[in-house]
Amino acid sequence: MKQYLKHDEWKIIEEGFHKKHNRITESVFSIGNGRMGQRANFEEQYSGDSLQGNYIAGVYYPDKTRVGWWKNGYPEYFAKVLNAVNWIGIDIKINNDELDLHQCKISDFRRVLDMKKGILSRSFTAKLKNGIKVKVKTVRFCSIVDDETAAIRYSITLLNKKAKLEIKPYLDFDVINEDANYDEKFWEEVNRMTGKRSGYVTAKTKKLNFHVCSGMQIRIDHNGKTSKNPFSSTEKNKYVAQTAKLKAKKRDEITIFKYVANLSSENHPKTAMLKICKKVLKQATQKGFDQLLDEQKIAWGAKWKESDITIEGDVAAQQGIRFNIFQLNQTYTGEDERLNIGPKGFTGEKYGGSTYWDTEAYCFPFYLSSAEPRVARNLLIYRYKHLPKAIENANKLGFNSGAALYPMVTMNGEECHNEWEITFEEIHRNGAIAFAIYDYIRYTGDKDYLSQYGLPVLIAIARFWAQRVNFSNEKNKFVLLGVTGPNEYENNVNNNWYTLYIAKWCLEYARDAVHYVRKTAPERYAAISAKYHFNDRAEIRRWNKVSRNLYFPENKDLGIFLQQDGFLDKEQKLAKDIPEEQTPIWQNWSWDRILRSVYIKQADVLQGLYLFEDHFDEVTVKRNFDYYEPRTVHESSLSPCVHVIHAARLGYEKKAYELYLRTSRLDLDDYNNDTEDGCHITSMGGTWMSVIKGFGGMRVRRDHLYFSPLLPRQWKSLTFKIRFRENLLSVRIGPTEAEIFNHSKGDIKIYVHNKPRIIQGKQSQTVSYKPKRQPIAT
Ligand code: BGC
Repeated sequence: MKQYLKHDEWKIIEEGFHKKHNRITESVFSIGNGRMGQRANFEEQYSGDSLQGNYIAGVYYPDKTRVGWWKNGYPEYFAKVLNAVNWIGIDIKINNDELDLHQCKISDFRRVLDMKKGILSRSFTAKLKNGIKVKVKTVRFCSIVDDETAAIRYSITLLNKKAKLEIKPYLDFDVINEDANYDEKFWEEVNRMTGKRSGYVTAKTKKLNFHVCSGMQIRIDHNGKTSKNPFSSTEKNKYVAQTAKLKAKKRDEITIFKYVANLSSENHPKTAMLKICKKVLKQATQKGFDQLLDEQKIAWGAKWKESDITIEGDVAAQQGIRFNIFQLNQTYTGEDERLNIGPKGFTGEKYGGSTYWDTEAYCFPFYLSSAEPRVARNLLIYRYKHLPKAIENANKLGFNSGAALYPMVTMNGEECHNEWEITFEEIHRNGAIAFAIYDYIRYTGDKDYLSQYGLPVLIAIARFWAQRVNFSNEKNKFVLLGVTGPNEYENNVNNNWYTLYIAKWCLEYARDAVHYVRKTAPERYAAISAKYHFNDRAEIRRWNKVSRNLYFPENKDLGIFLQQDGFLDKEQKLAKDIPEEQTPIWQNWSWDRILRSVYIKQADVLQGLYLFEDHFDEVTVKRNFDYYEPRTVHESSLSPCVHVIHAARLGYEKKAYELYLRTSRLDLDDYNNDTEDGCHITSMGGTWMSVIKGFGGMRVRRDHLYFSPLLPRQWKSLTFKIRFRENLLSVRIGPTEAEIFNHSKGDIKIYVHNKPRIIQGKQSQTVSYKPKRQPIAT
């Protein structure tokens, strides 16, 4: 854990340059707009440690898989999001010395990510080797109004002497991916050109031939007046630059404005890209930096109005939740149904920018409650469109008759990860995709979704489970062998309880969905049956047989479900027994040791009890939580959020609060020692859940919203907004009172701690409640 960033409600602040943590800071201070994203690399040269990262949504590379011993069923490629054009670069020389923070003496360094406005700024004083002292101030943003546009303002003031400046803004596609499997460069130039103060490069990716066209337009002001000095242009392969040379006196201020447009062939015809890029750039330049900035502030203001959560009385907790919401909003906007949410968003290369089960299991509820229904719907349609590939994936593994196995890791529906036991065997992801359909309908009431898109997906998933089980004569039950549950610190296990439970649920839900569509949309039903060769009687008979006769490992003495067969054979130790210097264990222990240990990476049985909470009584949930939580090391970012939800429900206030800080400040404080690879974007959806479903205790049951609040002692209040069907509610939770304001015209019936309340349209109601608190079992 590292605590070098300042606590502030709206800003992330680094004071003093923490060179050692630079990669972490670069991840945390990343900016994006759903179309592109940019790590907080410096504009000027930096020869110290840094991970350059500029990412364009949807542009990836199918890097040839690297495995020691090829086995049937391995995917051909491991997809990765590409480090794209370096559009921020501005080289600065002062009296021939490069401005490079690794080489200069720095003071007053401050880097600020203003989440309210969506802008990144930096200021510092640098003393170069030649003795010249300068003050530098920079501001940049990726516009969320014109999402192909970005802008930088970079100003330099000479503090102690006159000097000659050489300023060289550039665009550079000659970049690398640190995680390239064969140290290959992925971009090839298509064309380049320079104008008077402008430059353009179009490059294409190898293999898939994505084109990206990047353009820049430069203006330089000298003491507030636009400089008339001529620029000289430089062009080389994949690179263009404009150089301005000027003489400045002591205290002169030189300000560079760099307007940028980045366009992808995913959104424009390749032949027209340069022309359109010029147009987009012209619009940005005409608006000018200040107007673009004002628009950015207004647009972010509107986003915050929709999705802000306020926590009174605890700045660290407030900053944590806002950071998570900010990152989610700048990663996925729901505008484009071809896009999804990579575990690192636009903040790093790890996980290749691909789509994981994380989207459905952790991010989906956030978009469902805080954006228009079409945003969550787009996420579902993304998977609907991948159904043919999911059927192909299952086919490659030997399944047939339209069974689908959605990939654990994907860009276009194909499986593209090569860690067999860890990822392939996590077949539980099929369940999360089915559950998201259920959750969407439960939340929005949009049952038509089933006949429009949902049913074929559910049928194909049910077919998979019906084929994946096998019958154990010894147990006289169906079993699921050779799987990996959500806890990736166990591989290739038999009868993972979570996987079994979600398989059973999928089979039953698919059956109910078939009945519903057959009754309510017979024509559509006939069309789906014909298209997918669905034999309802025979197939449902099989589904029922399997779901009614599945085996579930449990231990009756302890009163718990067993994570998998043989779990109790493990040496029963607790997470607190691990010496601190050996954590995180994935960085310190051999894989063999981890697999044999009892330690749980992330919620597994508890993930199931979270999704299907209403199927179990509270005592069962409590017994399982009391057993599994002390054995969980939370080394997946996706873990603490689920534990918060259970802990808050059970009244374990201290535990819930501790784990809330862990999930919400995971990257800000680098809890898992891996933020340098990028921020944990998908777990940020989980953080949102931990607040709304955890401390707000929000659930949807039988078409109504339920709240069972528990406010941590450290907080004075918690306020959030929730969309639910046609309603918009503001909820303010105090220690013993909840105030609910109904923004809509119509009345709404809700439940607070299981008691019904009618909140009239445009009215608020204050409800007293008695929070449940109990000490955690030790
Ligand atoms: C987790 C997986 C997750 C992946 C991407 C892993 O560390 O164990 O559940 O899907 O990260 O976030």
